[in-house]
Amino acid sequence: EKGGFRSFMDKEIHDQPHAVADTLLGRTDVRGRLVLDEVRISEDVLRAVDKIVVVACGTAAYAGHVAKYAIEHWCRVPVEVELAHEFRYRDPVVNARTLVVAISQSGETMDTLMAVRHAREQGATALAIVNTHGSTIPRESDAVLYTHAGPEIAVASTKAFLAQITATYLLGLYLAQLRGNMFADEVETILAELRAMPDKIQTVLDRSARVQEIARWMADTPSVLFLGRHVGYPVALEGALKLKELAYIHAEGFAAGELKHGPIALVEPGQPVFVVVPSPRGRHSLHAKVVSNIQEIRARGARTIVIAEDGDEAVVPFADEVFRVPQAPTLLAPLLSVVPLQVFACELATAKGLDVDQPRNLAKSVTVE
Ligand code: F6R
Repeated sequence: EKGGFRSFMDKEIHDQPHAVADTLLGRTDVRGRLVLDEVRISEDVLRAVDKIVVVACGTAAYAGHVAKYAIEHWCRVPVEVELAHEFRYRDPVVNARTLVVAISQSGETMDTLMAVRHAREQGATALAIVNTHGSTIPRESDAVLYTHAGPEIAVASTKAFLAQITATYLLGLYLAQLRGNMFADEVETILAELRAMPDKIQTVLDRSARVQEIARWMADTPSVLFLGRHVGYPVALEGALKLKELAYIHAEGFAAGELKHGPIALVEPGQPVFVVVPSPRGRHSLHAKVVSNIQEIRARGARTIVIAEDGDEAVVPFADEVFRVPQAPTLLAPLLSVVPLQVFACELATAKGLDVDQPRNLAKSVTVE
């Protein structure tokens, strides 16, 4: 049932091109317009939404964090992302014009469910992005957009994460079209780019031998830092979470722009630092800023492991190691850049002789507070 893979996690990492492709399947009508078939919320309500609040926990919350960049850019609606357990005890400002998006693989996470209940009591509309059919969160929501990642067995989430990002993007494009922020042809352009992602994810997987080799070399490292910026920031957080969960290594993710506000003090000779580099073709010269961060930490002795696009030569002089990903639009890049981080954590934990499918102290579905 592991399909020849050493672990369910390994298999699920390799299932990711399908998880994304299947989540995209059948979402457009004959005229090419987006239809999210399980969204039972009136278009008037969705047009009137003036704030989106994503509630989720763990990896699902990082998917929400990625979604914020895309949805705000496409729809011009403020998007807040909040850990469900913080949201519900905070007396959050939500009302009938708030769309609460609950993201959950299992659909059973108690904190996320309670956040949905609380928001709906305040009059908000709730949409669930969930992988497990028949689970509780979709039943208690006004609508559901299922991710089609297939069953995720390994405790640590991988393919569900990519499917969640994909689903939030479909939601963003749908809202942008509905609310008049985008024309159908603009939506179609981005959908075509999304549809090209499964092959690119496969390319990243095909290149994973080097990542695995480095992971095995690093099996004894006591700590790893992860840096990213813009959509690369939640990718860094997710990379750190995977390493904590699977390999029991102290790992932290930072926004690269925060480096000089504190974290750079952690950098000492030999400290491994992963850096998720934005596309050099992106806006706001973020690429140059992150390259200069790599330079700064390298000057302090960090061992820099860089995730960069094909053709990005600017990183080479400052990188001890470069993991290449195919070129992609900035907002879609997390679907690629997180993959080497998943492979790294899985391989390092395997090299340590750990059970990657059942990490200690963790449960697949957290149905208690
Ligand atoms: C991380 C992980 C957890 C879950 C979190 C939410 O690898 O598995 O952080 O993402 O417990 O679970 P769901 O998505 O089922 O609500």
